[in-house]
Amino acid sequence: MIHTRICDLLGIAHPIVLGGMGGATNAPLVAAVSNAGAFGTLGTSALNAATLDNEIGAIHERTDKPFGINHLLFQIQEDMFAVTLRARPALVAFAWARKQQNLRDYFQRAHDAGCKVMHMAGEVAEALRAADAGADVLVAQGTEAGGHVGWMASLPLLPMIVKAVAPLPVLGAGGIADGRGLAAALALGADGVLLGTRFLATPEAPIHANFKQAIVKSDGHDTVLTEIPDLASQRVWPGAMSRAQRNLFIERWSGREWAIRQNAAEIGKQVAAARVSGDIDNATLSFGQDAGLIDSIKTVNQVVQDVVAEAEEILRVRLPALLR
Ligand SMILES: Cc1cc2nc3c(=O)[nH]c(=O)nc-3n(C[C@H](O)[C@H](O)[C@H](O)COP(=O)(O)O)c2cc1C
Repeated sequence: MIHTRICDLLGIAHPIVLGGMGGATNAPLVAAVSNAGAFGTLGTSALNAATLDNEIGAIHERTDKPFGINHLLFQIQEDMFAVTLRARPALVAFAWARKQQNLRDYFQRAHDAGCKVMHMAGEVAEALRAADAGADVLVAQGTEAGGHVGWMASLPLLPMIVKAVAPLPVLGAGGIADGRGLAAALALGADGVLLGTRFLATPEAPIHANFKQAIVKSDGHDTVLTEIPDLASQRVWPGAMSRAQRNLFIERWSGREWAIRQNAAEIGKQVAAARVSGDIDNATLSFGQDAGLIDSIKTVNQVVQDVVAEAEEILRVRLPALLR
């Protein structure tokens, strides 16, 4: 067993957390991760207050293990946050605040509801801001990650954040898909890892089967940092671009971002339709560089077991054997 402070803080057996991915997490996935002894987190950006309430109920039907709810601070909605606070999950996971937002207020309200508070940061300054505001745990998200990311890579960012916010526990995220990544993150000072892309390539993930196969087929070299997905959905994301596969959709509009701005409503509808039909050429496929480490669809339980077993083997056998 690998046991860290995050296991005690969140009441879990393994120091592995599912990233709360908006539009790509639902009750079956969250519950499967928690039932596997890791920590499931529900993304909320594609939900409203009523559907969030339903999803939380559905998680409770599937597991009595702890889980978390994720809110994107720059677009947080009071009615949805109220649903989360009423549900009193073990953890409220925040990310992507506007510079002028008062984190302390949101964190305090989560604490008052009896929840732990996690905040994801792609820069040291953002991690310090969240630590000052009372976060219980930080996520250091490197630019290798899928979805919205900053520009710093995990290898330097994680130890920098660990040092900056010590003694608070930190999770490494971005580019981690197996036990080698977990062992490396622990070596860099993390108390665990947060995985997104790896959990997308599971039967439980609520994305089209074609998108899961795209992750399996990817060699990890085909992603790009782009503002095209946000232009198409008419969103201004604070301090981030999107890491997505450089597919036909991205190539069609690269260098012609001005043209998306002219036709965003129409293009946004086409992307949404492509997402539903599983059209991998015309949808936005958000996944991380660690897709290159993923070569099969595995159940959530298998993912968790394999990550833990591989990391244990590295810590117990491979690394100690190097010492003289
Ligand atoms: C499709 C997708 C959607 C995501 N949505 C969110 C989100 O709504 N909130 C959030 O905090 N992080 C979100 N993330 C980021 C993940 O929480 C996590 O930081 C990232 O996936 C870790 O890197 P990895 O993909 O290399 O494992 C998303 C990631 C992906 C791939």
